[in-house]
Amino acid sequence: MSQVKLAILYYSATGTNHQLARWAQEGGQQVGAEVKVFKVQELAPQSIIDSNAAWKANSEATKDVPNATPDDLVQADAIIFSVPTRYGNMAAPMKQFLDTTGGIWAQGKTINKVVSAMTSAQNPHGGQEATILSLYTMMYHWGAIVVSPGYTDQSVFAAGGNPYGTSVSVDQDGKMKEDVQAAVMHQAKRVVTVAEWLKKGMQV
Ligand SMILES: Cc1cc2nc3c(=O)[nH]c(=O)nc-3n(C[C@H](O)[C@H](O)[C@H](O)COP(=O)(O)O)c2cc1C
Repeated sequence: MSQVKLAILYYSATGTNHQLARWAQEGGQQVGAEVKVFKVQELAPQSIIDSNAAWKANSEATKDVPNATPDDLVQADAIIFSVPTRYGNMAAPMKQFLDTTGGIWAQGKTINKVVSAMTSAQNPHGGQEATILSLYTMMYHWGAIVVSPGYTDQSVFAAGGNPYGTSVSVDQDGKMKEDVQAAVMHQAKRVVTVAEWLKKGMQV
């Protein structure tokens, strides 16, 4: 059993990043972490959600997933983010949530969190790397420790080879075009492993 508490924080309109978050949960649990999954507060008006069948269905299917609070991040040793690419950047609800972490940042409570990020986009070159890197920019301000997958496992190559974090492209129907489950699970396991090394090292 790992001592690591892993929080998985996602935003998802049409379900892709919710699925990535669930695979990360599975990976984290396989290496014994205590895993909690949170979504961030939706910001879109209900009329917009209702006008998109996939968005409406995902919203209803995930209504019982708790909305994250900054304190949920404080409780975690490691955090994995999953967020759609929008115009080459993270979707606004994730940015808005992260903008509420100024209080815990000011108290030094974001320091040494082990973090990693995943994303999806419609196009393989639609800004996936930029999205992950923009999230990591915030993490450097946090004093967090970014643990990217790099090319540490064959599953990264099979998933399209994004060393910054697992990313997937989706077709017009929202179906994932690459098989990224193994890469997501590897990323989660790696995050938990590094967090465990850090936690044990800090106890010495
Ligand atoms: C406002 C908006 C902007 C988007 N911008 C991009 C983009 O820059 N590049 C791209 O490939 N896909 C873009 N997409 C497609 C989303 O990335 C895609 O719908 C999302 O990854 C699906 O994730 P989800 O199912 O978790 O919501 C955009 C979608 C929306 C609604």
